[in-house]
Amino acid sequence: MTGRYPCLIAVLLHAVSRWHLLPFTPMQSREPGRSRLGSLGLLRFRRFELSPTKRRLRKGVSVADLRGIARRRLPRGVFDYIDGGAEDEITMRFNTQAYRNVTFKPRVLRDMSEVDTTSTLLGKPIPFPLVLAPTGFTRIADPAGELAVARAAGRAGIPYSLSTLGTRSIEEVAAVSSGRLWYQLYVFKDRGIVNEMIDRAAAAGYEALCVTVDTAMLGKRERDVRRGFTLPPKLGLSTIFDGIVHPVWTWKFVTSEPIVFANLAGQAVGDGTEAISLAEYFSTGLDSGLDWDDISWIRDRWPGPIVIKGIQSVADAVIAADRGVDAIALSNHGGRQLDSAPAPFDLLPAVADAVAGRIEIICDGGVRRGSDIVKALALGATACMAGRAYLYGLGAAGEAGVDHVLDMLGSDLRRTMALIGCASVKELDREYVDLGPGHS
Ligand code: FNR
Ligand code: LAC
Repeated sequence: MTGRYPCLIAVLLHAVSRWHLLPFTPMQSREPGRSRLGSLGLLRFRRFELSPTKRRLRKGVSVADLRGIARRRLPRGVFDYIDGGAEDEITMRFNTQAYRNVTFKPRVLRDMSEVDTTSTLLGKPIPFPLVLAPTGFTRIADPAGELAVARAAGRAGIPYSLSTLGTRSIEEVAAVSSGRLWYQLYVFKDRGIVNEMIDRAAAAGYEALCVTVDTAMLGKRERDVRRGFTLPPKLGLSTIFDGIVHPVWTWKFVTSEPIVFANLAGQAVGDGTEAISLAEYFSTGLDSGLDWDDISWIRDRWPGPIVIKGIQSVADAVIAADRGVDAIALSNHGGRQLDSAPAPFDLLPAVADAVAGRIEIICDGGVRRGSDIVKALALGATACMAGRAYLYGLGAAGEAGVDHVLDMLGSDLRRTMALIGCASVKELDREYVDLGPGHS
């Protein structure tokens, strides 16, 4: 009986070597005349990775993989706040699907030995055209939160926009960042708070103000409503259970500093010390009377460039260009506000034609791959903005996860450029994409 096992193992190893199922020295490196079984002497096992973070990241080969890892690691309520959208989540799905509906028109034999992904945004050079979108509550994905994201963006050389509802302050983020920072502004009824935030961002050296205008009311995010999601999470049977089955997250959450809206500490509007739902917070604190004239007073107060985030129509893009703002972010807030709003990517060609180079266009929402950025640039975007992509990385593996996502998007972008036969992002145009039937 015992004699059979070595024999069986030899047969298995032989089969494995024949079909190259193990990561050992490839066929080409075999010495001529050496038998397949003989080549087993060259068997190479992959080194066991001691770091659990690195082990996790090895499996995160795409943003979708990282989303899956984050989904397992985060309590369901936290994951749903990040991952979810408004109502039926139609717009949220449009945002990603819009990119998938467009194919490339690749060219070949064009010398792709050098591919240049650099361009400019708001008049400054950028290694590849991506901005990390503002996201509130970032420390619920990982306690390193906004500081981790700002450091990773700085390392990649791309801008990061801190949210008004960030869980680290304007000054804390500026202190750790080596790169370009934008400040995302929500306009409160109390203009004193707004003026104070604008002045703090200017004093801390933020480059641009990104004014979000698609939040006259908070969208109905039904996953959050069903769960009664608040910040900080209110304890109930389901949150306690959620916490118990995600002990790593729960341990980090209870042992790190309490999560509050750091930019609003001590303000009468509330800073999240008392549990609140976002819908309540928006309806009591934010100014739903905001209009284009408010953009003019913000312009007068803020010394740098202004980006209007949340433009969803050609008509408003033209008004923004006429009003002399520096850039617009075509955005539906990642499908978290108005459901059935159009996908920003679908608006691009008409908006680019209408504003004809008078204003920079950032395409925000649905970016999951570097090829998405290539498609947006080909249709007239100056850059893309992404939110969930980096939040999934942060939730999956903390700061290293954000680095990983940025590396992935940058190398995807370069590879896509080489494969479509375009050596520089500055040369991308509509000739490289096929919009499908009915489009020229
Ligand atoms: C957001 N977004 C957002 N936008 C904003 O102007 N201020 C904010 O505080 C937030 N907060 C926020 C939290 C979370 C968890 C998400 C997912 C999104 C919207 C964000 O800036 C961006 O518009 C979307 O994330 C873009 O869509 P993708 O890239 O997530 O598909
Ligand atoms: C959101 C807010 C913070 O989308 O803008 O959740």
